[in-house]
Amino acid sequence: MRDPIIRSVDVHKTYGRGHGRFEALKGVSFDIHDGESIAILGKSGSGKSTLMHVLALLDAPTSGTILLEGVDTSTLQGRRLNRTRNETFGFVFQQFFLTPNASVLDNVTLPLKIAGVGTAERRRRGLATLEQLELLDKTKNKAVNLSGGQKQRVAIARALVNNPRIIFADEPTGNLDSKTGAAVEDILLGLNRENGITLIVVTHDDDLAARCDRRLRIRDGLLLEDAGVAA
Ligand SMILES: Nc1ncnc2c1ncn2[C@@H]1O[C@H](COP(=O)(O)OP(=O)(O)OP(=O)(O)O)[C@@H](O)[C@H]1O
Ligand SMILES: [Mg+2]
Repeated sequence: MRDPIIRSVDVHKTYGRGHGRFEALKGVSFDIHDGESIAILGKSGSGKSTLMHVLALLDAPTSGTILLEGVDTSTLQGRRLNRTRNETFGFVFQQFFLTPNASVLDNVTLPLKIAGVGTAERRRRGLATLEQLELLDKTKNKAVNLSGGQKQRVAIARALVNNPRIIFADEPTGNLDSKTGAAVEDILLGLNRENGITLIVVTHDDDLAARCDRRLRIRDGLLLEDAGVAA
């Protein structure tokens, strides 16, 4: 069988040192297979975002290993690490993290700029992605002037523009009303089902979690279960 796309092996993450030391992950092991949709669930402070940051190579574990398609990611550093992250992952966050005064197109094509893609190709791919997200009419708008749902669709377009294998989403519907949130859920799950992009989503939303293939539940830095079916 093929390597899992991501394998987490006994991952620990400790913040701070001395008396301020806090162990946010206490030994977390699981596999994620290519094309799966995974919900990460748990109470506030349980370690969900910490786990996502470690899986997405935004932060290194204190001990333990993250394997990306069989490669020990602790061997990736500097530019190679940045390039792997930029080429393999797309990110969607609760707070959108758009550049407010830049245009929608410039926000969406930022990962391509970082990757060194030229202006014309950036524009072509940016427009194609905006069309996919039904945002073509907003191309020239400043990001700050969009509705919450539109902002999150721009963030999804930015996550998609580099054809990622994996999308990481941390509470992607957390700042949206339920109707707008449901539309964003449909888009993310559609990308998983139709384009085969592996989806790893941190959420408090039971409906979204139930629609994923698998749920990983965290309590106090430990994985509780690895449920294949909705609880
Ligand atoms: N940079 C940091 N320094 C110190 N402690 C941190 C840091 N980041 C997170 N923590 C602590 O680690 C624990 C896990 O935090 P994390 O952000 O992963 O929780 P979470 O499950 O995502 O919570 P929420 O649902 O509120 O987003 C918390 O107790 C938090 O206070
Ligand atoms: Mg969090």
